[in-house]
Amino acid sequence: MDLIKAAKDVRENAYAPYSGFKVGAALRSDSGQVHAGCNVENIAYPEGTCAEAGAISAMIAAGETNFVEIAVIADGPEPVAPCGGCRQKLLEFAAPTAKITMATLDGKSLTTEVAELLPGAFDRSQMGNA
Ligand code: THU
Repeated sequence: MDLIKAAKDVRENAYAPYSGFKVGAALRSDSGQVHAGCNVENIAYPEGTCAEAGAISAMIAAGETNFVEIAVIADGPEPVAPCGGCRQKLLEFAAPTAKITMATLDGKSLTTEVAELLPGAFDRSQMGNA
């Protein structure tokens, strides 16, 4: 399944009445399954969750813990950049070289590796024994 298409489809279900900015994310896990998520906002603004977090939760709920590729899409002028918190979340569940494609509804896209999004990330090695 095309990940950008899956992200675009799930984006339609985003609940974003406060920002008006709908985001969709779809990832392919190790097994080849696609898991998708969208942003879910809340009147208590900080309680909102990002599309990437939703896709990760769907993967975990399905019993998997690693993805090889993810696509994120929104209707912005430039390919949507995952927020800082999502960058850390993505690194938890993928190899540093996992592919991420950021896209716009009008067809622009940018592809890189998840580790490129978070130089100097806090990781297991810093805890010494983890
Ligand atoms: N948002 C995401 O879901 N993912 C991103 O990569 C960037 C931002 C959401 C959070 C909030 O619901 C809205 O976009 C505006 O920040």
